[in-house]
Amino acid sequence: MINRKLRMGMIGGGKGAFIGAIHRAAALMDNQIELVCGCFSSKPEVSLASGREYFLPDDRIYTSYQQMIEREAALPEERRMDFVSIVTPNQLHFGPAAMAMEHGFDVVLDKPITFSLEEAYRLRDKVEQTGRTLALTHTYSGYPGVKEARERFARGDFGKIRKIFVEYTQGWLSTRVELDPASNAGWRTDPSRSGKAGTMGDIGTHALQLAEYISGQRCTSLCADLRTVVEGRLNRIRCTSNGTTDRWRSYVPGMLTWEPLQKPTPARPADIPKVTSKPLRTFTGISHVPCGPGGAGKRPGRNGRIFRM
Ligand SMILES: NC(=O)c1ccc[n+]([C@@H]2O[C@H](COP(=O)([O-])OP(=O)(O)OC[C@H]3O[C@@H](n4cnc5c(N)ncnc54)[C@H](O)[C@@H]3O)[C@@H](O)[C@H]2O)c1
Repeated sequence: MINRKLRMGMIGGGKGAFIGAIHRAAALMDNQIELVCGCFSSKPEVSLASGREYFLPDDRIYTSYQQMIEREAALPEERRMDFVSIVTPNQLHFGPAAMAMEHGFDVVLDKPITFSLEEAYRLRDKVEQTGRTLALTHTYSGYPGVKEARERFARGDFGKIRKIFVEYTQGWLSTRVELDPASNAGWRTDPSRSGKAGTMGDIGTHALQLAEYISGQRCTSLCADLRTVVEGRLNRIRCTSNGTTDRWRSYVPGMLTWEPLQKPTPARPADIPKVTSKPLRTFTGISHVPCGPGGAGKRPGRNGRIFRM
């Protein structure tokens, strides 16, 4: 057991950014991780202002991720970060992750793993070469309803699974929000920064991960029909499975609804029997990254592991 908090660095997640704030909040949830340094933006002044807002000392706020990784690696072991959370646009996943592992740091990386499949294979090789731990985070794994569903699948509550249907529709890109320079939609709608998978890389990854995570099964092949759609999207997630017996849905983090097949379909949604899930394990995403055993100062993770969370 490490008898101190894990020290986290962050790349990306400057003021106004989306997922960096979620990683910082998740790190606080069980009070086992503290933010000690970061390079929060490609703009030095934004990185500095952001780091100060997060109460970091100026000498731990960096102006490039390369500078951050090199300087942190040069610090005494009892001061340097233990791992880095990478929350940058997709084209900036592989570079910082590979460099961090080469310098002896474990990595938490938000989905999608990389900008391209080729980069993903190279990153897998890097994990094996360096022996570091790479944790790939998918937000929805932390929902109690999703955990509950996974447990029930594993227990066989739904009988033999014949088909899993996952749907993820999202509304905020249904207008040209990327034309607003202040929006963080710009890189998402630009294949040179988000990758050619487009929205399939952005939110299709969530659908795939949910299907595999909940069912415990792996997709072996993919048949895709892609097109551009701009109207009629709702911002919600629905994951439905028709097994031989029941049907369940998880719309919100803490609730799982379950519709046993043998019972008549309720006339009103409010009548759907609800199973409010108990958090079987409190699981906050990055705060449960298994960084390996060892006392203070020991470098965790020797075997090169990739966790999909
Ligand atoms: N799990 C989820 O539900 C979820 C949700 C949103 C985003 N994401 C993922 O998180 C990543 C970031 O998305 P976001 O919505 O937070 O994007 P964002 O545009 O809101 O934030 C990106 C941050 O990276 C910083 N950045 C850019 N270049 C940098 C550089 N060279 N060095 C340091 N920082 C740099 C930007 O300044 C900004 O602070 C993406 O890969 C995205 O797919 C996941």
